[in-house]
Amino acid sequence: MRTPVVAGNWKMNKTAAEAAAFVDEVSPLIVGSSGREVIIAPTFPALAATVAAARGSNIRVSAQNLHWEASGAYTGEVSAGMLVEIGCTHVIIGHSERRQYFGENDGTVHLKTLAALDAGLTPIVCVGETLEQREAGNTEAVLTEQFTAGVGALQPEQFAELILAYEPVWAIGTGRTATPEIAEAAHREIRALAAECFGETTAGNVRILYGGSVKPSNFTGLLGCPNIDGGLVGGASLDPQSFAALVRA
Ligand code: 13P
Repeated sequence: MRTPVVAGNWKMNKTAAEAAAFVDEVSPLIVGSSGREVIIAPTFPALAATVAAARGSNIRVSAQNLHWEASGAYTGEVSAGMLVEIGCTHVIIGHSERRQYFGENDGTVHLKTLAALDAGLTPIVCVGETLEQREAGNTEAVLTEQFTAGVGALQPEQFAELILAYEPVWAIGTGRTATPEIAEAAHREIRALAAECFGETTAGNVRILYGGSVKPSNFTGLLGCPNIDGGLVGGASLDPQSFAALVRA
């Protein structure tokens, strides 16, 4: 049985004070929503305030990125150990915005995933095709490449610790959600890749989140699909009412 996950990726939004206020507002709204993992990923400067505000609630705090080295001359970067020290439990790795704007690739996804696991952080590893790739009929090939090069070489016990997210790039921030049928087909494909690399049992246990224009109005339909285990939500996670509605979905 896979526990559903609702994860809010705030991207470059909310100050530390705004993040803490959000947690204070959302916590009472989701009291009693058991059987769900609830995660918020604020910006680096807001992490500590979010962790403090979330203490005593069932909200876990994720970073949006990390560096794979423990320390060193990497101006502007943050290591896994530093995130653990301030109370982060998760980290998003390989988001398409990181791939598109900051040169992240399957190789860095692999290194970052290993570093996160070594430090005891749960990686939320993102894969997904662009519109161009989908229209060219390359979705399966892209997912295979991203999966194989990013996480395919982990040890099975390492893979068992992570969360995957399927985020079709054409659905991110566009209001154009993948239909449950399209999303489910991709999730099924990703789970089949996991089964090839790590066996049926491990593949059957890994959570695969859908991301891309998730809203309270479309989330239930997506969650109804057998291979969709939750959402990685951008825009709709920024408002406490809408985030709470997603958690209660
Ligand atoms: P939106 O929900 O705003 O489309 O963003 C999705 C996303 O990129 C989550 O990581």
